[in-house]
Amino acid sequence: MRITRSRAVSLNGHTGTQVRRLCAVVGLTHRADEVADVLADIIGPAGSRPLDEPAPWRSDVADDHTPVEYSIAFEEDGSHTLRLLVEAGARKPGPAANLRAALAALDRLAQRYPLSLERFTAVRELFLPAEPRGVFSLWFSIVVTKARVAVKVYLNPQVHGQAAAPGLVAAGLDRLGLAAAWPDLSAHAPRPGSTLDRFSFFAIDLDDTPRSRVKVYQSHFRAGLRELTRLGAACPLTDAGVLADFTATIGGLDSYDGRPLVTSHIYLDGDERPRGFSVYLPVRDYVRDDEVALARTKTLLSAHGFDAAVLDRAVAAVTDRPLDSGVGLIAHVSLRMGRPRPGVTVYLSAEAYAVAAPAVEAVGAA
Ligand code: TRP
Repeated sequence: MRITRSRAVSLNGHTGTQVRRLCAVVGLTHRADEVADVLADIIGPAGSRPLDEPAPWRSDVADDHTPVEYSIAFEEDGSHTLRLLVEAGARKPGPAANLRAALAALDRLAQRYPLSLERFTAVRELFLPAEPRGVFSLWFSIVVTKARVAVKVYLNPQVHGQAAAPGLVAAGLDRLGLAAAWPDLSAHAPRPGSTLDRFSFFAIDLDDTPRSRVKVYQSHFRAGLRELTRLGAACPLTDAGVLADFTATIGGLDSYDGRPLVTSHIYLDGDERPRGFSVYLPVRDYVRDDEVALARTKTLLSAHGFDAAVLDRAVAAVTDRPLDSGVGLIAHVSLRMGRPRPGVTVYLSAEAYAVAAPAVEAVGAA
């Protein structure tokens, strides 16, 4: 079966095939139909449009505006988690209409799964104004494991503009009983007062277990290992050596001057200090093409004792184009340290609408 973009196929046809194949690769075949169904439900009307029509909304989920991105989390116990980052779209897309579509999709998800909306309800009025600003207001993460499908929501700290973002994050933490986390997080700002470090996502697990997390994400422009180390020091479980190896293997640069490095600090109920710290490196801006990105990522996976062949199969599940013919299929690679589980996550683009051409010059280490 060819999976490269065919113009007549619909967005749902394209992503449905990818998701079914990804489920098979990571041993989740029994969830394939369910996940394809949930995905189409969230995507909304854009899903039935053929791919030769342009994307109806410039979703920031992926570079080509496909409203979904896949990721595979390699877990220490040898299992894999499949996750989908999805943006809901309205029939007539726009910031306010998409937010309404997302809230309606959340209602449907809550009918399907036993979601706990308490913490979402506690912060929604902070993060979801009727006229949202910024590139998105509410995204979903659908987290698929053998045992269950879980849901996480991403809110946008920039939704009232950039200057308001730190205050919004502080207020959000406060409403969730995490007020004590804020002074510590601010104290680990790598470049205090600088606008190069920006709060970019505020994420909440929608389940009600002791493992439910709140994650605070920041984007760090023109940053490098020095900034990451400072940020990571907030979390007692950060291993500076592992972090240094990660950046050397995936990026190989002193300063990342293209797309920003991203970090997240992870909190469980009542925490003052983060339980976990993750770093996301937008590898696609620092390689010539996906063949290079795949090679670096497999090196990292092997160094961590993961089965790198699973990544080859996951890549083959989403595309059959030559990997050196484009860049961006592997969008980010992330390193997770501490709780809930350490490991590596690889983000794969659906490339429904476009494939970016290889970089003109090789960037970073070969
Ligand atoms: N596409 C956006 C970006 O690259 C948002 C995004 C999607 C993202 N997946 C991500 C950001 C994973 C960080 C990590 O910024």
